[in-house]
Amino acid sequence: MRRTPIILAAVAAGLLTACGGGESAAPEKAGQASIRLGFSQVGEESAWRLANTTSIEHAATNAGVQLDLRVADGKQENQTAAIRQFINDKVDVIAFSPVVESGWDELLQEAKDAGIPVIVTDRMVDTTDTSLFVTMLGSDFTAEGRKAGEWLVEHYRDYNGTVRIVEIEGTTGSAPANQRRSGFAEAIEADPDLQVIASRDGNFTREGGEQVMAGFLKEHPKIDVVFAHNDDEGLGAIEAIEADGKRPGVDLKIITVDASRDGLTALAEGRLNYVIECNPLLGPQLMELVGKVRTGQSIPRRVVVDETAFDREAAKAVLPNRQY
Ligand code: AHR
Repeated sequence: MRRTPIILAAVAAGLLTACGGGESAAPEKAGQASIRLGFSQVGEESAWRLANTTSIEHAATNAGVQLDLRVADGKQENQTAAIRQFINDKVDVIAFSPVVESGWDELLQEAKDAGIPVIVTDRMVDTTDTSLFVTMLGSDFTAEGRKAGEWLVEHYRDYNGTVRIVEIEGTTGSAPANQRRSGFAEAIEADPDLQVIASRDGNFTREGGEQVMAGFLKEHPKIDVVFAHNDDEGLGAIEAIEADGKRPGVDLKIITVDASRDGLTALAEGRLNYVIECNPLLGPQLMELVGKVRTGQSIPRRVVVDETAFDREAAKAVLPNRQY
């Protein structure tokens, strides 16, 4: 488990002004202790994740929040240990992006008993007791999966015959894998010709995507479409498809999620066909929520990030200014 060696910018601050996309600094207040935020990050599995971590680090610095960032290498037990440490350290606020959805109740109850508010970011937890966290900041993964499916329905509207789809899923048990799968399935139900013939966990990594795709290509003589749950998996799939002598984006259509710079570049080159945005730049909004929680202001129970989707032309248009 990586622990960031720095406690970021211990500038005195009690109130935060950052809102939405801005990264404005918090006002300094003489004599007022800065907020201590413990953040448990999933890992370093994807370009999205690295951009998310950087966004949180920068926003903490700008807001004068002391950030104790711990990176869990994709292991729930590492996150559990990190959060217990935050509780022992009596941080002011805990935030975390859970590796998987289930198995958090006991730990969150410990934080609640210690009087430490918890903000869930990026990935939702599966709990019936919503008093265990104060808010959830992140994307609507079901909508992302639905957008992927809707594009496919539209793309094959005039096509007759079975469309064979393989799905490279994100980490088993994680919210984005569960919700993107179900949103996608719901959307493609509109056309019974669209058939998912295989799906497997690619763990949100490029290597995972390549391995899973290589296996699919061996097992299935005809594949028309790949739905990869993130760009990294899709980029790995491109390598496997090319190694198999086929043309990604032409012989097989590929849809991914994230819209990272590498993903949009592949889309602009015609090696991906459609990319759904999942915005990792959550740092400023997180710091605003942290400030409000700390000062007892009311906050919404759910903050959904605004997102779009890209075809080839849209990718070319945004690429010069893409931040991640
Ligand atoms: O939870 C967000 C997902 O996790 C992103 O789509 C993926 O790239 C990341 O690893």
